[in-house]
Amino acid sequence: MHFVVSQATFAFSFMRVNILAIESSCDDTSAAVISDGCVLSNIVSVQKAHAEYGGVVPELASREHQVHIIPVVDQALKASNIRTKDLHAIAFTRGPGLLGSLIVGVTFAKSMALTLDIPLIEVHHMHAHVLAHFAEDPKPAFPFLCLTVSGGHTQIIRVDSPYDMKILGQTRDDAAGEAFDKTGKMLGLTYPAGPLIDKYAHSGQAIYDFPIADIAGLDFSFSGLKTAVMYFLRDRSKENPDFIKSELANISRSVQDVIVESLMRKLIKAAEQENIKNIAIAGGVSANSALRSRLEIEARNRSWNAYIPDFEYCRDNAGMVGIAAHYKWLAKDFVGQDVSAQARLEF
Ligand code: KG4
Ligand code: ZN
Repeated sequence: MHFVVSQATFAFSFMRVNILAIESSCDDTSAAVISDGCVLSNIVSVQKAHAEYGGVVPELASREHQVHIIPVVDQALKASNIRTKDLHAIAFTRGPGLLGSLIVGVTFAKSMALTLDIPLIEVHHMHAHVLAHFAEDPKPAFPFLCLTVSGGHTQIIRVDSPYDMKILGQTRDDAAGEAFDKTGKMLGLTYPAGPLIDKYAHSGQAIYDFPIADIAGLDFSFSGLKTAVMYFLRDRSKENPDFIKSELANISRSVQDVIVESLMRKLIKAAEQENIKNIAIAGGVSANSALRSRLEIEARNRSWNAYIPDFEYCRDNAGMVGIAAHYKWLAKDFVGQDVSAQARLEF
C-alpha cells in the first residue's frame, strides 16, 4: 500500500517542505527537522547503557529508545522553530539495524504521520549515511565512491545519483567499526572503543604487526585481525601481565593502522577500477582521525576530490535520514501505514 498525498499538501507545495526525521536503528535516538533539504535541527541522544558490555545490548537499546524518543523529537521541533502543523512528512529509518530499536522509531513515525495526516517516508540507514554528504557544502559531484564504515557495515558504494547506488565491495565478516570495538574490548576499553583507540593511537607507534586480509576484488575481512590480536594479547600478557596497560598506545596505533590500510587499499582499487576521482567516506568510523588524514593524503597524491563529513554527520543521526527523505519527497516516494521495520533491509 502506498500513501496518497492529500490535496492540502499539494496546495501548499510552493512553501518550504518540512520533514521530521527519526533514527533509531542502533543505540542512538535521534530526531531532526529538514526544510527543503536544509537541516534545521539534529538532536542525538547517545545511550550510555552499553559502555560496560563491550557492545550494544539490543534489549537495553530498545528500552532506552522508548524513554528518549519523545523528548528527542520535542527538542528537535523546538530547536527548528517548526510546529507540528507545519510538517509535510515524517521520515524514519526502516532498516537495517536492531529490530527492537527500529520498531520504536518506525511505530513512533507511523503514529505521528497518522495523527497529522501527512505522508510517511522510509529510509535505508546505509543510503542515509551516504546522503549525509548532501547536508553540507561542498556536496559531492556524481558519480562518486563512498566508503561507508560503521559498527555494522563496511561498504564501497558507487553513487550515480541519490536514487542510484550500487555496492562494489563489502565486508565478508566483521565491520570496520566492529574490528575497533572488539579489539578495544580485548584491551579493556569501554564501548564504543573506536574513539578510544583513535585517542590512544595518537601517542603510539605501529610497532606490532597484524595481518591484512588478502581478499579478492573489493571485499573486506576483519575477523582475522580480531583473532590475531586475541592470540597476541594472550601470549604477551603471559610473559608480562601489565603488557596491555603499558603498551596500550602502541597496540592501539598498530591495530588502527591495519584497519585504515585495509580500507584504503580497497578504496584506491575501487577508484582505479571505476575511474572515479570523487571520493567520500561516511559512517561512524569516518570520524577516525587516521582514516581522515590518510584520505586527505591520498587525495593530494591522486588528484581526488575528497569529501569528509563533519563529525555530526559521521555517527548515526536523523539529519542524514532527513536528507535522504528529502530526495524521496521530490520523487513522491511514500509508504503506507502497513510498513514494518526490517532488520536486514536490502540495500
Ligand atoms: O555509524 P555509527 O554511529 O553506527 C552504526 O551504524 O554502526 O558507527 C558506530 C561505529 C562504532 O563501531 C564506533 O566504535 C565507530 O563507529 N567509531 C570510530 C570512531 N568513532 C566512532 N571508530 C574509529 N575511530 C573513531 N574515531
Ligand atoms: Zn550507522
